[in-house]
Amino acid sequence: MRNQFIVATTLFIMSASVGCNDDKSPSKDNNREPSKAPPTASAAPASTPAPTPSAAPSAAASSAAPAQTVEIQLASVANMMAYDKTKLSVPTGASVHLTLKNSATLDVLPHNWVLVKPGTEAKVAAAGLAKAQATGYVVPGDDVLAYTPLTPPGKSSDVTFTAPAPGDYPYICTYPGHYIMMKGVLTVTP
Ligand code: CU
Repeated sequence: MRNQFIVATTLFIMSASVGCNDDKSPSKDNNREPSKAPPTASAAPASTPAPTPSAAPSAAASSAAPAQTVEIQLASVANMMAYDKTKLSVPTGASVHLTLKNSATLDVLPHNWVLVKPGTEAKVAAAGLAKAQATGYVVPGDDVLAYTPLTPPGKSSDVTFTAPAPGDYPYICTYPGHYIMMKGVLTVTP
């Protein structure tokens, strides 16, 4: 009885496995193709192409930014009516961020930084003086291209502006009595 059962079971399993093989033989081929494909497909997009597109735009953006932005650190010299730099240079069209540090320790020496059109230094200084402290000794207008607020001793201020057309532009401090001595030239290059 047992032997017959085992034989019968074995035959059933064999026939079943044969039947399964017949059914699976087409599906096995189907399974092999997709199973081969995913490793190949997943390996390729995951490793190589993904980092490349993400690296390219960020590299282009970061390389474009430094070319357009210029940082300038400017300071006054001790308790003198002078800037520590009398010559500055920026490319035209650049976004210029200038920081002015007032290095003075005497209360009577506030300073500012005013970029003007060539030849208008005296005019701009006089206009600022007429309006006095309420305006920081600067009157915005066509002759004034950029300026910082009036900056007390020991303090800093800053201004961001777009570099104008190529040329030499005077910068002055318009605090009363300063502009004759406290000045420099910003050269805008093509
Ligand atoms: Cu000054």
